[in-house]
Amino acid sequence: MKRVLITSAIPYVAGVKHLGNLVGSMLPADIFARYCRSRGYDTLAICATDEHGAPVELAALEEGTPVADYAAKWHGVQKELGDRFGLDWDNFGRSSSPQNHELTLHFARALWKNGFLEIRVTKQAYSPTDKRFLPDRYVIGTCPHCGYDRARGDQCENCTRVLDPIDLINPRSAVSGAADIEIRDSTHLFLKQSQFADKLRVWIDSHKNDWPSLVTSIAYKWLDEGLQDRGITRDLAWGIPVPDDIADGQLKGKVFYVWFDAPIEYIAATKEWADKNNKGDAWKDWWYGDAAKDVTYWEFMGKDNVPFHTVGFPVTIMASGEPWKLVDRLKGFNWLNYDGGKFSTSGKRGIFMDAALDVAPADYWRYYLIANAPEGSDSNFTWEQFAGIINKDLADVLGNFVNRVTKFCVARFDGVVPGEGEYGEDEKALITELDRRFAQYAAFMEDAEFRKAMGEMRAIWVAGNEYMTRAAPWTHIKTDRARAAVGVRMGLNLIHQFAHLVWPVMPDFAKTIHECIQPVGYRGGVIPFPDGPMAEVLDELTPGQPIKAPEVLVAKITDEQIAEWKARFGGGGN
Ligand code: 2FM
Ligand code: ZN
Repeated sequence: MKRVLITSAIPYVAGVKHLGNLVGSMLPADIFARYCRSRGYDTLAICATDEHGAPVELAALEEGTPVADYAAKWHGVQKELGDRFGLDWDNFGRSSSPQNHELTLHFARALWKNGFLEIRVTKQAYSPTDKRFLPDRYVIGTCPHCGYDRARGDQCENCTRVLDPIDLINPRSAVSGAADIEIRDSTHLFLKQSQFADKLRVWIDSHKNDWPSLVTSIAYKWLDEGLQDRGITRDLAWGIPVPDDIADGQLKGKVFYVWFDAPIEYIAATKEWADKNNKGDAWKDWWYGDAAKDVTYWEFMGKDNVPFHTVGFPVTIMASGEPWKLVDRLKGFNWLNYDGGKFSTSGKRGIFMDAALDVAPADYWRYYLIANAPEGSDSNFTWEQFAGIINKDLADVLGNFVNRVTKFCVARFDGVVPGEGEYGEDEKALITELDRRFAQYAAFMEDAEFRKAMGEMRAIWVAGNEYMTRAAPWTHIKTDRARAAVGVRMGLNLIHQFAHLVWPVMPDFAKTIHECIQPVGYRGGVIPFPDGPMAEVLDELTPGQPIKAPEVLVAKITDEQIAEWKARFGGGGN
C-alpha cells in the first residue's frame, strides 16, 4: 500500500489566520490528504501551531497575556476554526509540546556532537528604552534589498529575503517604537550551513523535475548567493532553552530560534499523535530509517517558507547524521492577494478564517480557494470573482444538476431509482468521456496540481449537466417513460459518483448529497474515490432504492450580499 506523509507549514499561534494562510498551506495539505485517503493510501496528515519566537511573544505582549497562556488560548481557537473548515489532521499539534522540546534537543545535541554548531559572538540590536535585546521581528525598518519600509528583522515580507535585524535601515523597536537602538555583543550558536552547499545542490538537482519551479528557483537563489551559516539561538525568554551540555553552558538563558524548532515539530507532532493514540514508536515508521523508506513525504507551504524547508531544515537533518526523512515533494504556493494588495495579519487586511465562515459555508471557500490557488503566480481575491465562481460552478452547474434530477425523480418516479430501459449510445459516450476525465483528474491530484484538477472536476460536472439537458427526461416522460427512466437513473448515478469525486474538496456537500442518494453503505468519514470503471460505478444504484431531494444545496450569492461584504471587509473589488 502507498504510504503518504503530509505536513502543512505550521501557522504562528498568534491570532486567527487569514485566507491567504489557509490557501497557501493548510487547505491544499488537507485536500491532498483527503484525496490520498479517498484512494485508500496509508495517509498521515500533520499540522500544528508554531508557538515560539518573536512573533508570538510580541503578540502576547500586545494582548497583555502571559505567553504560555496566550499560546494555549490561540491554539484552541485555531483548532476550532480548522475543524469548522474541515481541516482533518491526524494531529494538530503544538510546537511547545514536550515532544518537540525533546526532539529539538535531540537534534541540537547531535549537531553539536557532530561539530556542525559553532559558538560566535554576534552583534545584536539592543534597546535601552526596552531594556532588552531585540531579535528578529522585534526590530522593524527599511529592507536593504527592496526598500520596503516595514520590513521585519527576520525577513522582508515584500521581497521574501531573510534578514538580520542589524541590516535594517532606520531600525526601531517593535515593542516601544524606540529608535535608540544600540548594537551590543551577544554569544550565539551557529549552524554551519555553508558546509552543506554541495550536498544540498545535489539534493535539489534531484528534485528539479518534481518540485514546482517556484520552489527550485528560490532554493537555487539561496545556493547561488552563497550559503551563509545561520544563528539558531536567540536572546528571548520564551522558547526551548539551550541546555548546559551544549556549548559548556555559555548559552545559559537563551533559547533556540523558532525556525530551528518549528520544522522539527513536524516530527514531534507525529510523536504527539502516537502518544495520544497509544501507538508507541509508530511515529518513527513515518520518519526514520528503513521503516520509512516507502513513505512519500509531501510538504505544503507559502513561498516565504521555502528557504527554511530547502535549506534550514534539510541541513538540520543532514547534519544530524541520522536517517531522518527529507521531503520528497515540496509544494510551494505564491500569494493570494486581497484587493490588489497583500493579506496582512498585522494590518488586519483581508478576510480571516472566523469572518469567512460568517458569510459563507466552509465548502464554498474550500472550492473557491483551491480552484484559484496561487500555483503558477499570485492570484487576487475579489468578492465579484468569489460570487461568480460559486454562482456558476456550484449553483448553476453542480447544484442545479443535483436539484433537477432528484426533484424530478421524486415528482415522477416516486423518489426511487427507476429500473426501466437500457443505457444507449449517449450514455456510453458519456461513460467513455468520464473514464478519461476521472483518470485525468486523478493524475493531476497525484501531483497536487490543484487548479488543473479543479478544471477537470468542473468539466465532469459540466459533462453530466449537458448529458442531462440532452437526455431531457422531463420531455420524454410524456411519451416514453422508459427513456425518461434511463436519463433519471444515469443522473442519480452521476450524482452519487460526484459525491465520491468532490469529497476531498467539499466534504460537507459530498456527505449531504451522498446521504440523499445512497444512505446505505456510508458510515461517515472517508467517501472513497469512485471505485472502478465508469460503466460499473454509473450503474451501481439498485432500481427501487429510495432517494431524497436535498434542501437548497447551493444558495446563490446576491449583489446585495456582495455590496454588504465589501463594506464590511473593506475593498476586495475588481
Ligand atoms: O510562516 C509561518 O507561519 C511559520 N510559522 C511557518 C513554519 S513552518 C515550519 F517550518 F514549521
Ligand atoms: Zn525586501
